[in-house]
Amino acid sequence: MDQITFQHDRVLSDVHMLLPNAHHVMARLNQVGQPVFISKFKFLSNAEKQDSKCQARSKSSDSEAHVLQVEDKEENHEKNEEPALDEDGDLDIPHRPRNNLSGDSTREVVCPIILKQSCTAAQQNEDDDADECFDDIIRIEHTMATPLEDVGKQVWRGALLLGDFILSKPLMFKGATVVELGAGVGLTSIIMSTLAKKVYCTDVGEDLLSMCQRNITRNEHMIELAGGEVRVRQLDWLRSDLCTDADVEFSWTEEEVADIYDNVRFIIAADICYDDELTDGFFRTLYRLCNNFGHDCTIFISIEKRFNFTLREMDVSCDAYNHFEHCLSQLEELVDGQCSFKVEQLPSTFPQFLQYERLDQLELWKVTAKRVSFDKNKSNSKELTS
Ligand SMILES: C[S@@+](CC[C@H](N)C(=O)[O-])C[C@H]1O[C@@H](n2cnc3c(N)ncnc32)[C@H](O)[C@@H]1O
Repeated sequence: MDQITFQHDRVLSDVHMLLPNAHHVMARLNQVGQPVFISKFKFLSNAEKQDSKCQARSKSSDSEAHVLQVEDKEENHEKNEEPALDEDGDLDIPHRPRNNLSGDSTREVVCPIILKQSCTAAQQNEDDDADECFDDIIRIEHTMATPLEDVGKQVWRGALLLGDFILSKPLMFKGATVVELGAGVGLTSIIMSTLAKKVYCTDVGEDLLSMCQRNITRNEHMIELAGGEVRVRQLDWLRSDLCTDADVEFSWTEEEVADIYDNVRFIIAADICYDDELTDGFFRTLYRLCNNFGHDCTIFISIEKRFNFTLREMDVSCDAYNHFEHCLSQLEELVDGQCSFKVEQLPSTFPQFLQYERLDQLELWKVTAKRVSFDKNKSNSKELTS
């Protein structure tokens, strides 16, 4: 049961590939029969940070960092200095994040312990209980190797890049009201909630939103400690309204709708452009939201530029990324709404608080939505209609 079969129509996030597949032990099945895993993301103490820096210095001469806290098995591989083999006898080479821990920020480094699962549901509960009193570990429930329609149930590198950016800008986000679009299992919203006052963590699908809600509850101690709040809500980019039907789970109250239009100053989104139709829906949603705000808003979007071989091109191309860029320029050219949009790519030079491979293909974009002739054009509509 703990062996995952990879099928051709499934995708697996690199975040979950950090440790060899053989180490992944399933905790349980979710309501729709998918294997569920728990990953732990730990905030390192200053002492641990120093330790890890020393380790990285002594073990690495080529600026590559070593995984700081991983499963015992991998540590043993290093100590034995023998080539590690997987169950089939293939060489087992764990990915190693780059060393970028020596950033100039004064915040503590956050280091994920990826995929440290319990074997059984009972052990999982014990594990959860044992962690309960720690306020420096984010625990995320997720699945792996999902079909495309379920990619939100995995953690993607873009979530970690955006998480790093948020942690590097504590003053910017302190006390803010924020909407995350396409939040998936909620990791970035949880990170944001350690700074912001309120985060509306949005996505679609009851099953995904329930998983996300469990992650919020699982990490409530950390969110409360920071004085933040996360509300999981349904926001479908392919719909032009916000669902306020009280009978529907994760729907919005009228007060919440008013709150987002009055108070949201930041919208964040990680790795949400991978299908052109959805990308169009995402940009329409951004446009409608910003047009209904009575104020300026700043949007941060992370994206991973993925190269694929296509039969159409008979070459390697990054179609989803190209479409994303096209939508950005269209947004910037729009002149008929309540807002004007300015688009810029941010340099990825902010410190790395989380461990993952910060590839050149991982990008962060900033979109600034400025109100134009606010008094004349102010819309009274509280709907997501343009
Ligand atoms: C690649 S996942 C990224 C998840 C998360 N942000 C991360 O980086 O780990 C893309 C997300 O977009 C969401 N999504 C897809 N279609 C959507 C729609 N029509 N409305 C809202 N969210 C959607 C998916 O459910 C999924 O959570």
